Amino acid sequence: MSWYFDERIFAQEQRLLFDDGPGYIGHELMVPAVNDYRSLDWQDHASLLVRSADGVFELSNICRHRQAVMLEGCGNAERIVCPLHRWTYDNRGTLLGAPSLSQPRPETARKLARSAVSRSAIGRVGSREYDGST
Ligand code: FES
Repeated sequence: MSWYFDERIFAQEQRLLFDDGPGYIGHELMVPAVNDYRSLDWQDHASLLVRSADGVFELSNICRHRQAVMLEGCGNAERIVCPLHRWTYDNRGTLLGAPSLSQPRPETARKLARSAVSRSAIGRVGSREYDGST
């Protein structure tokens, strides 16, 4: 009977059942047009729902420079410009320019994390499936 009230078991069950499973992110109508974005306030704006020409994605909203949150709310933009030091990314997460960057960085440090989401219910597809970034 103690199994049902054991906090460690409960935490392990939550991790095993929910961490890698699908999770609701939003509806695709939150980003109806190409280049639309919406920050996910229930994630403290750490992620964006973005529609680019090749689909709808969850994109990190945390700048690779000094981890600033870049956008809040919704809008339409081909590029994401960090408000602190003006690092600029396209809406697929690729770093386009960094005024204060004096040395080249490895490829993985130049991309925002991006995950595919399903088109019908806009939920995570299994575990996070990044497209090459970290
Ligand atoms: S924190 Fe984003 S450019 Fe510096």
